[in-house]
Amino acid sequence: MNSGIATPPDLQAIALAGETLHLLPSGAALWPATGTLVVADLHLGKSERRARRWGALLPPYDTAETLARLDAVLDATRPTTVICLGDSFDDSAAADALRDDVRLWLARMMAGRRWIWVAGNHDPAPVDVGGTSLDEHRAGALTFRHIAQADADPGEVSGHWHPKLRLPVAGAGAARPAFVADGRRLILPAFGAYTGGLSALDPALSALMAPDAVAVLTGRTMVRVPLAACHSAAASSPGPSSPGRSPFRSPAAAARSR
Ligand SMILES: [Fe+2]
Repeated sequence: MNSGIATPPDLQAIALAGETLHLLPSGAALWPATGTLVVADLHLGKSERRARRWGALLPPYDTAETLARLDAVLDATRPTTVICLGDSFDDSAAADALRDDVRLWLARMMAGRRWIWVAGNHDPAPVDVGGTSLDEHRAGALTFRHIAQADADPGEVSGHWHPKLRLPVAGAGAARPAFVADGRRLILPAFGAYTGGLSALDPALSALMAPDAVAVLTGRTMVRVPLAACHSAAASSPGPSSPGRSPFRSPAAAARSR
């Protein structure tokens, strides 16, 4: 049953544990049957945390850019429930340091709907910004958590890895944030600005996904591609620009800091 949620025309539908989720160009996912919108890894306050730790290295516009993109998705889809899959804040101090106008902006977006903050490795403690803070959230056949578990039951929805993928074709351009899904689990790309990413072909992600897994690239023109084909293309054209070679960090380093 559709709960009144609006579904934009440009999306990719996937089946997950008997449910249908719609993957959106922005990197958010819709579960129309329950009126739920899901986003991962907002990392609000990232530039503030970096400035606090290392001095101002990034222009401090990431929080406003991320919230503006999220606001646009909320306007377009009108969900009754929003689930943020952890690392919503770059750390607890960043959550505490949110400016009043940002708190008001968040409060306006949360008004009239259920809003769930799932704990992440960057923001493990409950945050004082309204909504409900949970370690993980179960709804029907689906479980929403920050980091995918290797032995999870079918129907897991998670974030954490910030998957990205560059298509293994000439002229494909830069890597784009990408969903990764295999019918048992779905991993969302990071929604936040300045968040970086890990190749969807990285062994850390391959270890979690079934052989028939697909990646769905975000952006104006979404592209669904079998990960096995990308692995084959990478293996046949090894080199520094190979899509199979992570342009980011080792899985161990990624796991520590995503
Ligand atoms: Fe993250």
